[in-house]
Amino acid sequence: MNKKNVFINTIGCQMNVYDSSQMAKLLKHKNYESVDSYTNADLIIVNTCAIREKAVQKVYSFLGRLSDLKKKNTRLKIVVAGCVAQQQGAKLIKRFPQIDIVLGTHAINQLPDLLSRIEDSSSPIVRIAFSEKIHETASPAISVTQKEKVSDFVTIMQGCDNYCTYCVVPYVRGREISRKPESIIKEIQMMVYSGLKEITLLGQNVNSYGVKEGLTSFPELLAMVNDIDGLERIRFVTSHPKDLSDQLIESFGKLNKVCNHIHLPVQSGSNHILTKMNRKYTREAYLEKIEKLRAVSPGIGITSDFIVGFPGETEQDFNDTLGLIETVQFDSVFAFEYSDRLEAPASRFSDKINSAVKRNRLQRLFTLQKEITKKKNQSLIGQTFSVLIEGESKNQLKNISTSETVELSGRTSENRIVNFDGSPEWVIDIESLKGETVNVEIVKAFSNSLFGVLLKSQIEHLKSEEGHFHVA
Ligand code: SAH
Ligand code: SF4
Ligand code: F3S
Repeated sequence: MNKKNVFINTIGCQMNVYDSSQMAKLLKHKNYESVDSYTNADLIIVNTCAIREKAVQKVYSFLGRLSDLKKKNTRLKIVVAGCVAQQQGAKLIKRFPQIDIVLGTHAINQLPDLLSRIEDSSSPIVRIAFSEKIHETASPAISVTQKEKVSDFVTIMQGCDNYCTYCVVPYVRGREISRKPESIIKEIQMMVYSGLKEITLLGQNVNSYGVKEGLTSFPELLAMVNDIDGLERIRFVTSHPKDLSDQLIESFGKLNKVCNHIHLPVQSGSNHILTKMNRKYTREAYLEKIEKLRAVSPGIGITSDFIVGFPGETEQDFNDTLGLIETVQFDSVFAFEYSDRLEAPASRFSDKINSAVKRNRLQRLFTLQKEITKKKNQSLIGQTFSVLIEGESKNQLKNISTSETVELSGRTSENRIVNFDGSPEWVIDIESLKGETVNVEIVKAFSNSLFGVLLKSQIEHLKSEEGHFHVA
């Protein structure tokens, strides 16, 4: 069979990142090699996101660019997968006739079959039916074929039943369905076997894992994952505040591999807006959960998501949001201007906020959080953290590292990025540092990262255990 090249452009959340890697694994069996550029690809997949209008525009502009390419190379196949594929279906083909397959969010495992079908036919295929069952793309045979990254994702459940009034996810990912714990554990074991050290469990609301199916609860699943030999760190996203149980909060203290970080999207600090968003918790209930988390796990990294300019958001409501940010002192936050989604009920709410006000509120929110993050990061100077090394730092990769040395990057348990010089004279094999957990003392603080110094005394044990290091 001839070797072919596939280029996958992934837009959107970690779930899409996971789905893209599943597609790449499936395609490997059809002799497709993943490439980094679409110019000489035989197959281009764009895995799409519909969460905000900007994400959808990104998809359309990418698809627009592909039309010339297809004219030049008639053998090129184009697949649109993910949430915009699910949302738009056949409409996408009307707008972009160069598309060969529209692959909905429940159809990923059909990709190899559908590709065979379009080999000898020119009519495009649309697959957007929702299935009752979860797609289990990762058969063991598929998983072991590639060397895993140090840190990767695994989806433990798909869909969402929460229907926050602004959100498109329930309409494009379907109902909440949890994977069986045995299948998740098996997949992670396989990844660990191939080099993985840190797993992030993914779901729109991991806290309700298994509840609907009467399966293992999420804290029980965490305990099972914690028992996997060779795995060092466990993270999970996203936790919905309404379902954050005491049992889960206690897992932070009890399970040694669960990282000291929680992403707990609050969206707004105003009870009036939280009710309109259908979030089913109050500002007070949220603050109480934060206190409990900090009681169990002092120093826990806490991050959140915010939407500014939700329909009807007054200046007072927005000030409540700023007040909540002041009170909690998040480590960092993601914040977005509210974007109308046609399927979601909030698109029909009155009192829409104009874009200048939304932009202004977003700026004010970021200015406040920037100060908090800066203060927090500066307070870490002089402290030592255990850092799981993932690879070269972004500075190094972009060639803007100021030093002659090799700058490596990793994250602390609290999910803070730490860059450091990975090539002091006493380290002889930088490559083998990747995937190791080392102690780094923080010497500089920036707004999005920390810079540290690798502690020699702390990694000497690695030399005796693994023979990776030469210590002078
Ligand atoms: N399931 C996760 C969030 C998934 S979407 C949760 O419930 O927290 C990621 C983030 O996008 C959300 O937390 C929200 O802040 C933002 N978001 C979702 N819909 C949006 C919209 N219509 N406009 C602006 N931001 C939105
Ligand atoms: Fe969207 Fe709400 Fe579900 Fe998160 S919990 S995916 S914000 S509907
Ligand atoms: Fe986007 Fe779909 Fe994720 S809408 S945020 S890619 S679930």
